[in-house]
Amino acid sequence: MKKGLFITFEGLEGCGKTTQAKMLFDFLIKQKIPSIYTKEPGGTKIGDKIRKILLDQKNDGMDYKTEMLLFLASRAENVRLIILPALEEGKVVISDRFYDSTTAYQGYGRGIDLKITKHLNNLVVGKAIPDLTFILDIDPYEGLRRSASFGNSREMRFEEEFINKKIIGGKLFLERVRQGYYQLSYEEIERIKIIDANRSKEDIFEEIIKIVNKKLAYLVN
Ligand code: TYD
Repeated sequence: MKKGLFITFEGLEGCGKTTQAKMLFDFLIKQKIPSIYTKEPGGTKIGDKIRKILLDQKNDGMDYKTEMLLFLASRAENVRLIILPALEEGKVVISDRFYDSTTAYQGYGRGIDLKITKHLNNLVVGKAIPDLTFILDIDPYEGLRRSASFGNSREMRFEEEFINKKIIGGKLFLERVRQGYYQLSYEEIERIKIIDANRSKEDIFEEIIKIVNKKLAYLVN
């Protein structure tokens, strides 16, 4: 039986979700609320190896299906080894990206059939369904500009690709991903909150913490 609280952070490159996820983690730890932070792709021994394959610029041209299956493989390890055990112990789990990334990037972005992404996502996550998801919404060009200024050059396959092959089906790839996130938020208004990321990190955090506190109060009562 799942007892903890599962919170995920989503959004385009450069939206600041990692900063917010870490701020939330630090905040919860200061409040002495048992919490863990994990990220995707990665988070486990196998997941970290998969992350290297996925983000390595030398792997340019990877088949979209290979890419999707690698993300899912990384997630399966993360769910089994990190997320579910922590939730069963009643902890707050914060994940920097989770299954909505696959729907948005591989489904809406790459154009893989949404029925397939949904089915495989469900297979991989089992009971580890997020209780709360923050999508940090940012203009794709602004996000790319921000992420290019602090990027790790060895892990830039995605950024490279988004810049160089940016128009797919008449639309910037990241614009389709953004629309995918919007669509998800319309379908699950209780779970998914769109947060305007075009503000100071303090203002964004204030909005996030209000929503988290409401959930935590609900959990305790
Ligand atoms: P990462 O370096 O973690 O970037 P970010 O800081 O934006 O999270 O790279 C992860 C990249 O992988 C990012 O471009 C989003 C993409 N991604 C998918 O395409 N599908 C997925 O399921 C996940 C988890 C990530």
